[in-house]
Amino acid sequence: MNKRLSLLFVAQALYFQLSAQVQVKQLLTEGLKDPQSIDNVHPRFSWKLSTEQKNTLQLAYEITVMDGKKATWSSGKVASDESLHAPYDGPVLTPGRQYSWKVKVWDNHGHSAASTEPAYFRMGITEWKAKWIEPGYQEAATNRPCPIFKTSFHPGKKVAAAIAYITSHGLYEAQINGKKVGDGFLTPGFTSYNKRLQYQVYDVTNLLQPGDNDIQVTVASGWYRGTIGWGTDKYGKTLGVLYQMEVTYTDGTKETVISDGNWKSGTGKITYAEIYNGEWQDNRIETTNWSGVKVIDIPMNNLVASMTPPVTKQEVFSNIKRIKTPAGEDVIDFGQNLSGFVHFKASGHAGDSIILEHGEILDKKGNFYNANLRTAAATDIFVLSGKGEEYFEPHFTFHGFRYVRVKTKAKMTNIEAVATYSNIPATGMFECSNQMVNQLQHNIQWSQVDNFVDIPTDCPQRDERLGWTGDAQAFVQTATFNREVNTFFTKWLRDLAADQLKNGSVPFVIPNVLGDDASGSAGWGDAATVVPWTMYEVYSDKRLLENQYPSMKAWVDFIQLNSPKNMWATGSHFGDWLSYKSENRSADTYTYITTQCYYALSTQLVINAARVLGKQDDVEKYSSLLKKIKDAFCAEYVTPNGRIMSNTQTSYVLALAFDMLPENIRPMAAKHLADDIAGYNNHLTTGFLGTYLLSNTLTRFGYTDVAYKLLLQDTYPSWLYPVKMGATTIWERWDGMKTDSTFQTIEMNSFNHYAYGAIGDWMYKNIAGINMDEGSTGFKKIKIMPRLGGNMTYAKASYESGYGKIAVDWKIKDGKTFVMDVEIPVNTTAEVYVPGKEGKEAVGSGKYHYETKL
Ligand code: BGC
Repeated sequence: MNKRLSLLFVAQALYFQLSAQVQVKQLLTEGLKDPQSIDNVHPRFSWKLSTEQKNTLQLAYEITVMDGKKATWSSGKVASDESLHAPYDGPVLTPGRQYSWKVKVWDNHGHSAASTEPAYFRMGITEWKAKWIEPGYQEAATNRPCPIFKTSFHPGKKVAAAIAYITSHGLYEAQINGKKVGDGFLTPGFTSYNKRLQYQVYDVTNLLQPGDNDIQVTVASGWYRGTIGWGTDKYGKTLGVLYQMEVTYTDGTKETVISDGNWKSGTGKITYAEIYNGEWQDNRIETTNWSGVKVIDIPMNNLVASMTPPVTKQEVFSNIKRIKTPAGEDVIDFGQNLSGFVHFKASGHAGDSIILEHGEILDKKGNFYNANLRTAAATDIFVLSGKGEEYFEPHFTFHGFRYVRVKTKAKMTNIEAVATYSNIPATGMFECSNQMVNQLQHNIQWSQVDNFVDIPTDCPQRDERLGWTGDAQAFVQTATFNREVNTFFTKWLRDLAADQLKNGSVPFVIPNVLGDDASGSAGWGDAATVVPWTMYEVYSDKRLLENQYPSMKAWVDFIQLNSPKNMWATGSHFGDWLSYKSENRSADTYTYITTQCYYALSTQLVINAARVLGKQDDVEKYSSLLKKIKDAFCAEYVTPNGRIMSNTQTSYVLALAFDMLPENIRPMAAKHLADDIAGYNNHLTTGFLGTYLLSNTLTRFGYTDVAYKLLLQDTYPSWLYPVKMGATTIWERWDGMKTDSTFQTIEMNSFNHYAYGAIGDWMYKNIAGINMDEGSTGFKKIKIMPRLGGNMTYAKASYESGYGKIAVDWKIKDGKTFVMDVEIPVNTTAEVYVPGKEGKEAVGSGKYHYETKL
């Protein structure tokens, strides 16, 4: 062998050795990268493994938590294949202190490796030195300008570190020396403020300077006291700030800067800001009339650390079309229905104004349309100072829009739309050979992010934008494919439990801004059971299940209390909201069919949770209740041949999906469902409750071909009809825009509602074939099972699970050969079903290639 060749062999051997070496990466604490505020005294750690070597599993791990250079705790070598949510179990962690941690793992090929980059986490604080402060001046009665609170700080020595803890009554934006603190928007977020108010933690070391430091916090009404849910002052009447900054000097001494009676308050450029109505800024205003502040003494036991990333700026749309509409108006088209705002530069005379009105769609004639926003003015007004080029962007509002009507004499440049939404990681991509289905996927993803604005909202544009529970529970499964929503829903579920009524009833919206009477609807309140169970399944998050368990149970107990003779046939409910109706035909499902089915579903989920949590008594108690619920259902609503009262698609779907029927009549009921769809010439007729379960139910009972027909249908009502009409997001109604291009009623016609986008789940699972094995959690056991149909010739999808990337990429070559590449992450196993081939193949981690004749 010549020298060159042997060198090549050595290099190759080294490469294989290195790539076979397992690596530890993406360390997360409580699901977040380097979180700055952790309330849980036993934070949980997760990590991912990577290696080129196939069939790699973790055999053991060892976690070490460090306080500076000193080890605080080591887990010791734990024999476990679990790399998600390993809990801290050491001495009490100090509030406000930052710790680092690392992990070493051992795999089944005799390799071991340690994480190379340390991960960090900071404990939240439990005691506040800061005081709540409110404006010291008399606020205007209406159109109140945003208060500004300020102080100045002069560090005595050289600063080593400065950490700021901030929250507010209302929305806040803090600045130090004119620079924004953090990149969050709409902070402190939306929670049930009086019970749970989040604070944010910022490392502001780099914003401080020697000498005087100017600290300012501007506050707006936001969800706290602004107009929300058809009213104002939901949580209080007065805005306020709580600010605490811990400064550590290089000599180790410390100083704390707090909000207190020494601060000043005043108003400035932001003359008005409301979530529904928009923001007004007047650049001519300089704040000169500073007043003192009012210090208020209120309990601080509602303060909690933030557990999910804030809303931040995301995509920017600069490729705009400026049009003159037939009505002669100046309108900008940003090409995408989004949630966020417009920013721009402008020059003109002092006092010139720029008025931006936001709308989602143009009407039949091509004119600007915003009647469907109802009372939400969604109008930003900017007034120029006249001093050169000025820059504008709103701070305390967001709009759901694709179009903006502009009224101004000033010259505007650099006009861009900025999407703003919760900064949670994207996890899924899906693509296939049908371009309309790809647009549908695009629309689903956009409706998801547009409505994940700190809470899961129904819509981002009209006078609503509330945490509607029914919409969230219908969409949650799809949401998990597209984004990492574990922390997002953990936060929201805390508010759900906090706002749950004493009798266990669940409000229609969370946080509950509609009052206690607005509660207790089937299919909506079930978010209390469906969302925690989904989080447990998808993310293997047992602690969340444990925390939510009392809330899950309370919801079922509430239903039981309202269900004499085991029949939930009382109260008013939204039912199969917005299902198909035409002049001579409608697909109304009797409401008390939906209630009974959801009673069973929630009871089943409590049983599942009780099993996981080892609560055997509850397993037995609720199992015997479940049997009675199903018996009562069948006795009242089902014929011996599987006909179900109402005879609608939704009645069959709910009964089948929630296992309401004895096994022997399920096939008959499924046939009735398929026949009904055929009777509507391959159209769905379902509303909010039936739609998200429809396709998975068809597939489960052997009607994937029918599911494909529904998916590819492009006439009303169908998923592709809005796509055909030019939608860039999911519509609230199947016919938001009718076939003659006129609109549905202005009362209820959002063009950005994710509920019907729940078909995304079926697409990932069946077209691409990415599934979790039944009984598994966190995608530890994967099932790859693409189902061919709908003339699809290729599909490509990936999902970033807690263990790593699962990917499928298949195509049909020359119409007869099925070719598929599959990627399975380290520390998981999979079963792969290849179309055209009998049986399944069990594989471990790695990349696999398949080819079969069809
Ligand atoms: C919301 C829905 C919600 C519904 C309750 C509407 O106003 O926009 O999405 O679920 O009310 O039926």
